Amino acid sequence: MTDNIQEKAWAKLNLSLDVLGRLPGGYHEMKMVMQSASLCDEVFLERNGTGSITLRSSFVYLPADGRNLAYRAAEEFFKAAGFKNPGLSIRLKKRIPVGAGLGGGSTDAAAVLRGLNRMYGFPFGRVELEHLGEALGSDVPFCVAGGTRLAGGRGEIMEELPPLPDCGIVICKPPFPIRTPELFARIDGRRTRTHPDTAGLAAALEAGSLEDVARRMYNVFEEVLPAGCGEIGVIRQRLLDAGALGVVMSGTGSAVLGLFPGAAEAGAARQALAERYRECFSAVPVGMLGIPTA
Ligand code: C5P
Repeated sequence: MTDNIQEKAWAKLNLSLDVLGRLPGGYHEMKMVMQSASLCDEVFLERNGTGSITLRSSFVYLPADGRNLAYRAAEEFFKAAGFKNPGLSIRLKKRIPVGAGLGGGSTDAAAVLRGLNRMYGFPFGRVELEHLGEALGSDVPFCVAGGTRLAGGRGEIMEELPPLPDCGIVICKPPFPIRTPELFARIDGRRTRTHPDTAGLAAALEAGSLEDVARRMYNVFEEVLPAGCGEIGVIRQRLLDAGALGVVMSGTGSAVLGLFPGAAEAGAARQALAERYRECFSAVPVGMLGIPTA
């Protein structure tokens, strides 16, 4: 048994996002094309025999207790596996911006589930880990193995899609977060709206056409942004001016992503945007992780 585990926690991007309706329990039925990107946090786990869980984060303002999904993921894992908590130190080296729609908290939680699963010799397979993630948050199941997937239901019903063709990605967040429940409430108040062409996006992935994927990216939340979010439109335009093939806001924002033909083009665009925006990153797509079964 390994006492020290390190996991990368990849950012989650939405290439498309649609809200189909409301579900019982206050959630919404979604249809989303999700993608993992190489922008990542790093999660360090150490079993230390203290019998309790401690959490430290390089973003010092994040909660270090059960309000942090990574902490709850460890509790959930020990409970599901029927193990007594041996004492665990969780250290998060954060890079993914918070309040950005990039799944930062969800992907840290998923990395804790993966890391503990590895520490204990893979008691759970991928699908079981995804089920465990459901209790933690709607994006956690996707973040367990990531890749390129179509997600429905609350986000937990997933189907594998062909991988996003090789490309460069620029992810840029304006200097304000957006509150997820507020955007859901705003979309509930909207009777008619445009929907993304999710089937067309899936067909573009099937055909391996980056241009067609980029052209079909669309997020319904961009139609209902609260006042004061004008900078999102500015970032969209700057990404297009820098040569992006397509741009879209991720999740409930506020980060926007642009797809570029390659890493070099994305690197140059990032540099141009970084003069104005502090939270600006270039990345590449990451494929689905293999999770062994015991
Ligand atoms: O599942 P999670 O805790 O990440 O969701 C945060 C909030 O986002 C929920 O409380 C709900 O307001 C909203 N949400 C939703 N429908 C979803 C996912 C999230 O309404 N499918």
